[in-house]
Amino acid sequence: MKNVLVAVDGSEASLKAARQAGDLARGFHARLTVLHVVAPVIIPSDAPWAPMDEIHAAELQRGQSIAQEVQRQLLPLESRELVKVGPAAETIVEVAASLPADLVVVGSTGKGAVKRLLLGSVADRVMHLTELPVLVVR
Ligand SMILES: Nc1ncnc2c1ncn2[C@@H]1O[C@H](COP(=O)(O)OP(=O)(O)OP(=O)(O)O)[C@@H](O)[C@H]1O
Ligand SMILES: [Mg+2]
Repeated sequence: MKNVLVAVDGSEASLKAARQAGDLARGFHARLTVLHVVAPVIIPSDAPWAPMDEIHAAELQRGQSIAQEVQRQLLPLESRELVKVGPAAETIVEVAASLPADLVVVGSTGKGAVKRLLLGSVADRVMHLTELPVLVVR
């Protein structure tokens, strides 16, 4: 196992997934990539004054700090952080394929946590969209 990818959304569940991924990466001497996906910002085209670039930059900045915070919590493990813009599940799967990841780690729930859900929609879609091994951390 050379590459472990963990997807984080800033939730407690995804931090738990990151710790698990960190332990595995350490054990296998694999490279850990911490990925956060930022949702594309949609602004009506009839709002020409919208500070598109600023909103976008702020979102990316926020995404970066989510990934960095997780990285900080995983120290002294060496990992790299990645922030991408797009639909969450599709982007996670795309990045996983491009590495390629030997293991994709996600939390079972995330920020949107509706308590009755055992499995969030992003985790569910990742499992359906990739043939790579997926670890869902509860
Ligand atoms: N934007 C994101 N970027 C990276 N990883 C994500 C993102 N959103 C979710 N994940 C990953 O998927 C896991 C499950 O989150 P998911 O979004 O499926 O659950 P939820 O937020 O509880 O439910 P839902 O989003 O369907 O309301 C998270 O712990 C995280 O690992
Ligand atoms: Mg969610």
